[in-house]
Amino acid sequence: MAAYEYETHDYDVVVVGAGGAGLRATLGMAEQGLRTACVTKVFPTRSHTVAAQGGIAASLSNMGPDHWQWHMYDTVKGSDWLGDTDAMEYLAREAPKAVYELEHYGVPFSRTEEGKIYQRPFGGHTTEFGEGPPVQRTCAAADRTGHAILHTLYGQSLKQKAEFYIEYFAIDLIMSDDGACTGVVCWKLDDGTMHVFNAKMVVLATGGYGRAYFSATSAHTCTGDGGGMVARAGLPLQDMEFVQFHPTGIYGSGCLITEGARGEGGYLTNSEGERFMERYAPNYKDLAPRDYVSRSMTMEIREGRGVGPHGDHIHLNLSHLPKEALQLRLPGISESARIFAGVDVTKEPIPVLPTVHYNMGGIPTNYWGEVLNPTEKDPNAIVPGLMAVGEAGCASVHGANRLGSNSLIDLVVFGRAAAIRAGDVVDREAAVPSTNTAQVDKALDRFDGLRHADGAVPTADLRLEMQRTMQDDAAVFRTSKTLAEGVEKMTAIAAKMGDLKVTDRSLVWNSDLMETLELTNLMPNALATIAGAEARKESRGAHAHEDFPDRDDTKWRVHTIARVDGAKTALSYRPIIEAPLTTEEQGGISLKKIAPKERTF
Ligand code: FUM
Repeated sequence: MAAYEYETHDYDVVVVGAGGAGLRATLGMAEQGLRTACVTKVFPTRSHTVAAQGGIAASLSNMGPDHWQWHMYDTVKGSDWLGDTDAMEYLAREAPKAVYELEHYGVPFSRTEEGKIYQRPFGGHTTEFGEGPPVQRTCAAADRTGHAILHTLYGQSLKQKAEFYIEYFAIDLIMSDDGACTGVVCWKLDDGTMHVFNAKMVVLATGGYGRAYFSATSAHTCTGDGGGMVARAGLPLQDMEFVQFHPTGIYGSGCLITEGARGEGGYLTNSEGERFMERYAPNYKDLAPRDYVSRSMTMEIREGRGVGPHGDHIHLNLSHLPKEALQLRLPGISESARIFAGVDVTKEPIPVLPTVHYNMGGIPTNYWGEVLNPTEKDPNAIVPGLMAVGEAGCASVHGANRLGSNSLIDLVVFGRAAAIRAGDVVDREAAVPSTNTAQVDKALDRFDGLRHADGAVPTADLRLEMQRTMQDDAAVFRTSKTLAEGVEKMTAIAAKMGDLKVTDRSLVWNSDLMETLELTNLMPNALATIAGAEARKESRGAHAHEDFPDRDDTKWRVHTIARVDGAKTALSYRPIIEAPLTTEEQGGISLKKIAPKERTF
């Protein structure tokens, strides 16, 4: 057994991760007087939410008529009818409240002439239940909305005396013998010490796993750490086959160019200079949802109408927009285009390509953020003591495809919901669970095994193999052949985890070891993604299966539940939640309005 001393910390709540969801949860917990710690592997304001550009969706009606029911309808349709209806209602209803709270906390939103929060159009957000023109629903702080939100939430959390453990890497969850979560084991990166956090509630807010792919808009820190810990605890992941490709990653670097660029009037063209989205989505054109636009771009390239010497990308045009508008509304991406593509957006188009951006799947939860461990008897069974929020979780509001700007609102609505729920279920008077030493030893043994790994495969090499396989075989378009090959290759790649080679054995700032721990998290996320995709014999949202081009609601309107054990993935299915929170008589949406139908734009 590995001999590591550790320091023990007791809290009511421990939040793992300090992005938008983690900080909103931390703030909400601390505001209610719960003793709250936030453990994060990066400095809070460096969490990936800082990179969120275009904005946060809420039906404020600042720029024209809007309604939460229209937002809900768009989210249901955007999800390609795979989202849970109760969660989607909760999101759309609570969104305005959550945004006004952010405003009052001090988020410096852009303003209209009358001083209201500025809102811009985003893909798939419409009026009149998809019958009217695009709506301006996305609240923005220029094109640095995530940055503005993250800094504000961090300041507010400090004000509420939440305690931060910064640059602590969460190794594994601590589970009790009866299946409750009672804490988390962490490694402090800057001095090599070990820490055990015991808590009445652990909230995973660890973000997505974009780095399972070769080209992603996600930061290198987006390694699905929550999903990895959950899988090792024997708990499942949900709907992992739905991976969002953002239409406008900069060709080559993958750096994000916000959808807000098209919201402000930008448009895509092919090698013939044609605004091709008019053919694919006659009503909403460049403002169709991301899965639609990414597929259309890929088809243009495949059919020989890509731009550039290799005909392998597309142009995003902004040069027709007034210079002042670019400076005021899109300063960040104007700079990114200059740095990463060498392009002056006032004169030239930006070369772009669909790039992995978001994971619709994640750790299954209800709309309060409570983690689910579905059984045949109870598909909505709760794991006591464990919550997941933000991109790490799957509530499920995004179903098979997320609408742009529904991510930031997901972070704050569900971060806030988790805090509200914890306020109800965490007993402030009860003792904090004592340290489960057997579980801590198990986590430290795993850590030590990786620290001294002396196999033949360097971590970076195996990671690259995984990334290239995922990029090739679980892409925008998938076929039975690519998916079957992908499963086979990924199983072989995962089997090499036992042959890893770590060269640095130290405990202080050991990035080799940290990246190895991250790879142990990326791997189960990647396996669940490719296995879920191979099994799903239909096309829905971001899962475009060329051998099964139609959506099949009879067989496949179900959530995929994936349990990953080593290199093996076992799949089962869980019914989606069709019932909304409120009936039409109670002021809720008409069920007829959100009944499945053909998804056109
Ligand atoms: O395009 C963007 O600004 C990204 C927004 C989002 O993913 O919600």
